[in-house]
Amino acid sequence: MTPGTSEPPASSPPRIASGGPPPPEWAHLLEEVLIPPERLQQRVDQLAKAINRDFARSELLLVPILTGTILFLADLLRRLTIPVQLDFVGVSSYRDRVRPGKLIFTKELRLEARGRDLLIIDDILDSGQTLARVRARLVQAKPQSVRACVLLAKETSRKASVSADYVGFVIPNKFVVGYGLDYAERYRNLPFVGVLRPERSQTGAPAAKQPQARVRSPSRRRVRPNASPS
Ligand code: IMP
Ligand code: MG
Repeated sequence: MTPGTSEPPASSPPRIASGGPPPPEWAHLLEEVLIPPERLQQRVDQLAKAINRDFARSELLLVPILTGTILFLADLLRRLTIPVQLDFVGVSSYRDRVRPGKLIFTKELRLEARGRDLLIIDDILDSGQTLARVRARLVQAKPQSVRACVLLAKETSRKASVSADYVGFVIPNKFVVGYGLDYAERYRNLPFVGVLRPERSQTGAPAAKQPQARVRSPSRRRVRPNASPS
């Protein structure tokens, strides 16, 4: 526990091993509900308190990565009591014959970042490549500090040596959707984080076209069609 507070430190995120059954209307789609809405709200509250405390003395520039952060960001943002500015960045994964999964920026930072405290926000940390690329790009603008906050971190071994300063939950290496996270741009609207049934990712996605969503299978294998917002 953080001294003098009753909440767990943001640096010790709860580890979610398994969830509960999905509501009947989502049972065809989901294996389980990993994190229910109340649990998400509780944890976002704790993260917001930690961020309020840690950045009490500066005007923070929040840099959420499009698009999976939308619901997490909306809940986090309304709990921040410190002065903040907001500027999204967009990242897409391009696949070509030479470099599969190459990341390109679809939306750059517009606000001045030089000398500022930046907090990158992302939905989920998997291989770490997205966060590593975004961080490297932002550092070029010579900010005073760059930290990162992710809702979820998978228990995978990261390809990029990167970590987040604020982590909502550590989850198993399963493909999850809901609360902003998608599969082929679907299911972002679910109010909880759920584990997608493996068979839904094989049959439930539209045929690959350009541009198209970054698609990741529920297993560790990744299918990356041509272009995608995160
Ligand atoms: P990384 O670059 O491998 O760390 O992946 C980060 C990005 O991949 C996230 O911002 C998501 O857009 C996407 N992603 C990774 N795992 C999942 C998942 O389980 N569900 C939905 N999107 C995911
Ligand atoms: Mg993302």
